[in-house]
Amino acid sequence: MNTMNFRNVNSTINEIRVVIFFLYVFIVLVCLVIAEIENDPTSTLPTTTLQFSPSALISSSTIRYTEKADLESIKITTFMPTLNNNSVTKITNTKNTIRYDGDQVLRVFTVNSKHRKKIKELERDGKGQKWASNTTTVDLFIKKEKIEDVKQSLTNASMDFRILVEDVQKAVDEENPPFTSEELNEFSSRKGHRLTFEHYHRLADMHGFLDYLGSTKSDFVSVHTIGQSVEGRAIKLIKISSSKPNATAFWIDGGIHAREWIASATVLYIINELVENRDNLDKEILDIDFYIIPLMNPDGYEYSHEQERLWRKNRRRSFGSFCVGTDLNRNWAYEWGGQGAGKYQCQEIYAGSGPLSEPETKSVANFIMERNSKFKAFVTFHSYGQYILYPWGHAKRLPSDSEDMDRVGRIAAAAMKQNGGATYTVGNSAALLYPAAGSSDDWAKGIAKIKYSYTIELRDTGRHGFILPASQIKISGKEAFAAIKAISKEIQS
Ligand SMILES: *[C@@H]1O[C@H](CO)[C@@H](O)[C@H](O)[C@H]1NC(C)=O
Ligand SMILES: *[C@@H]1O[C@H](CO)[C@@H](O)[C@H](O)[C@H]1NC(C)=O
Ligand SMILES: *[C@@H]1O[C@H](CO)[C@@H](O)[C@H](O)[C@H]1NC(C)=O
Ligand SMILES: *[C@@H]1O[C@H](CO)[C@@H](O)[C@H](O)[C@H]1NC(C)=O
Ligand SMILES: [Zn+2]
Repeated sequence: MNTMNFRNVNSTINEIRVVIFFLYVFIVLVCLVIAEIENDPTSTLPTTTLQFSPSALISSSTIRYTEKADLESIKITTFMPTLNNNSVTKITNTKNTIRYDGDQVLRVFTVNSKHRKKIKELERDGKGQKWASNTTTVDLFIKKEKIEDVKQSLTNASMDFRILVEDVQKAVDEENPPFTSEELNEFSSRKGHRLTFEHYHRLADMHGFLDYLGSTKSDFVSVHTIGQSVEGRAIKLIKISSSKPNATAFWIDGGIHAREWIASATVLYIINELVENRDNLDKEILDIDFYIIPLMNPDGYEYSHEQERLWRKNRRRSFGSFCVGTDLNRNWAYEWGGQGAGKYQCQEIYAGSGPLSEPETKSVANFIMERNSKFKAFVTFHSYGQYILYPWGHAKRLPSDSEDMDRVGRIAAAAMKQNGGATYTVGNSAALLYPAAGSSDDWAKGIAKIKYSYTIELRDTGRHGFILPASQIKISGKEAFAAIKAISKEIQS
């Protein structure tokens, strides 16, 4: 009798398993078809499509229904020549743009392991998303509907916190003012380029600026497309040449994380100083070949302007996953997949399907390895926190020459401060912040063997976080350029 029962139960379980399996296969197939429809601009299939949003990690409503027609209208507005006066505001007001009304960022003080465990729990339950953290604090982004719950749990756990950003949408609305009519008139009359240091610009304006420098200063500036992003956008590099054979080379990049808009703006400021204000530069700097990519993750960046301001990763889509994107700063081929790197595509820190699986990282790695013996310095700009960080990031371990990196890092921080800049903290990234394997500075140090390899986390220390007002581009650019000059002098001596 008993065995009979067990058999029945077993076969029922097996039947359930078979049903679940077929359901799974069916769902995956449906999703693949949907993904195809969404990708194919010429598709004539039904107009209502599903769109999956990465904010799924936070909000329980993971599926948003959108009209395909809307998606296309956004693309049309965005890719039109944008000499029209309100194009900027238009884009942020479209139906498909994710809004952050009432969402907040809290700084939580995590002084012991119980506190850190609580934070992990909140993240795991989808109640908060980490913006930044170090050994003593975590900045958590929280959707409006979860705020009371999170505050209650923190209070219950006797954890201190304060509000950093009161209303994320308000911050987003204020950070990047639309172009003024004077600016627009200037753009159309001067015909050179559209870049300013008062706004965060779209990719087309950045590339327009690089091309302008390449054509007007062709005696020492050249612009190269070194690869293409997942969605086929150009990855453009500008070389500012010393015009000397065998010159020391310096690598600079920004914008590997889409939402860190200040990083690209700052790198463009540096490019402008190196090219347009060349008369002010000392010989040590004139004698260096600079290789600079202002925007390493063009797909993610454009997406962060059009649809989701807080997008971080690239726009990789993979077979069998709803989630989009690889974290390009976990994708490098040094200790790939180690501590602080994600295995699952839905994670914000997803390391990708393999080391250098992404065209954005692969093309840069190839480019550097073809001439790596020339490079003495590598600086990658991120935000936020005001840190000058050096390897290793994959573990709390130091390279044998870490004292040299520490010394030059401190010189750079002092130069930033002296030039009217902010205070930057210098140190090893895993020790000061957290371990993160597969980052570009670890790769530059460990594989390309570039001696002075840094990640600079730009402004601020959390008051605005990723949503730093465009009015701070100039001051950020000025202090960052002071750091680049200081490092240049050190590698030349
Ligand atoms: C932009 O606005 C200014 C003043 O409001 C106007 O003179 C100009 O024609 C407008 N430009 C375009 C392209 O609409
Ligand atoms: C906080 O603690 C109180 C009493 O200990 C409990 O009733 C409540 O459910 C807790 N709230 C949360 C969000 O954990
Ligand atoms: C440049 O380096 C190569 C190889 O190290 C060397 O053969 C050559 O003489 C150098 N040229 C100059 C001008 O220093
Ligand atoms: C962590 O960050 C907070 C906020 O910027 C800062 O006050 C604190 O000093 C930092 N702690 C360390 C160890 O860097
Ligand atoms: Zn970053």
